[in-house]
Amino acid sequence: MDLIRVLVADGDKDTRAELLRMLAFAQELVVVGEAQDGMDAVQKSIVLQPDVILLDINMSGLDGFRAAEKITLEVPAAAVIIVSGQGEQEYLRRAMLAGAREFLVKPLQSEELINTVKTVYQVESKRLAQGEQKNIPKKSEVITVFGTKGGVGKTTLAVNLAVLLAKNRQKVVLFDLDLQFGDVAVFLNLFPRRTMSELAQERDAWDIELLESYLLPHVSGAKILPAPSRPEYAELITVEHVGEAINLLKLNYDYIIIDTPPFFNEINLTALDLSTQILLVLAMDLATIKNIKLSLELLESLQHSAKTKLILNRASDDMGITVADAEDTLDFLIAGYIPSEGKIVVPALNEGIPFVLSHPASRVSKAMQEVTDLVLKNRGYQEDLQIRHKQNILNRLFK
Ligand SMILES: Nc1ncnc2c1ncn2[C@@H]1O[C@H](COP(=O)(O)OP(=O)(O)OP(=O)(O)O)[C@@H](O)[C@H]1O
Ligand SMILES: [Mg+2]
Repeated sequence: MDLIRVLVADGDKDTRAELLRMLAFAQELVVVGEAQDGMDAVQKSIVLQPDVILLDINMSGLDGFRAAEKITLEVPAAAVIIVSGQGEQEYLRRAMLAGAREFLVKPLQSEELINTVKTVYQVESKRLAQGEQKNIPKKSEVITVFGTKGGVGKTTLAVNLAVLLAKNRQKVVLFDLDLQFGDVAVFLNLFPRRTMSELAQERDAWDIELLESYLLPHVSGAKILPAPSRPEYAELITVEHVGEAINLLKLNYDYIIIDTPPFFNEINLTALDLSTQILLVLAMDLATIKNIKLSLELLESLQHSAKTKLILNRASDDMGITVADAEDTLDFLIAGYIPSEGKIVVPALNEGIPFVLSHPASRVSKAMQEVTDLVLKNRGYQEDLQIRHKQNILNRLFK
């Protein structure tokens, strides 16, 4: 059985500690976070995507009912259990109206609490499996393009991927999460008036309509959420902003492509957590291979390996290191290859026209289409590649 991920929200520190102590008796449950007020509960639900949320009613700011309403709207796959000091009918009614699945009255017994969490989770899982949940947003793919070496081609890949997906009639948004020096808008010859930093300042009014008003349309059909106009404005953007923006965008878009800066920080880690696919961009030089090795280790410790695909950029015949050597060193197979094509890729950037549009028939554009197919068909994970790898070895042995 999967672990049931629980968020505990209660205004009182001692009550939270008591709930944690009780939940610790059940091995199937894991507490993924604690929230101290209603707004905190909503934000942590969005970022952490728990299965079950225990919500106290008497919390400052947003009370438990209003928090429950927001959570059921923004994280419909999570189930809310209201925990109340009073058991009056009116409270129960309001809890159900707010979308809560259960209502518990304090003081609680450990067994009662654990059984309720498990039952709610099981009912909710069945309901999700049967697709009965009406409010559920469409299944969106969140794709983070990542790499811990500067200049390996992350933005090039993210931009061309977004354009090809849009041409495939998918609803696509490209989120520039390189918050200090993001250049997605430059790659697409767009001039944002408002960016993620202005959006962050309107935090209290966030909903999908507001986010939409910040998106810049590109001729390909893809839309862009631009990075701040100055590096110092990056500080205005928090992990919660990023988590919530991604989850709101999921309401309207099939694909959310995220371009990142070349390092791990809390914001990138949030994007990686929320991603369904991670494209890790590799180049064939020793420094990059060393960095990718460390990144792969970190991604493994975060349990992201299964959704990671390794893409080799600027592949050519004379790289000095063979693909097999790199795969051996990394203990990870490469899923996609983009050739080195300076004569096409660099002018495309300077003109602000993605090369898949300016040179659709070129080798580099065809390779980009193959990488896009890996994304669209949800292929290129280690599991798929290892099967192919073994077959290749067997074919060679018995040829
Ligand atoms: N396949 C390729 N062939 C030739 N040039 C390429 C290729 N891919 C990327 N480049 C060039 O390499 C440079 C860096 O690419 P890009 O900005 O996409 O890298 P990045 O990983 O996003 O960098 P940063 O870490 O600074 O954000 C650009 O000038 C781009 O045109
Ligand atoms: Mg970049």
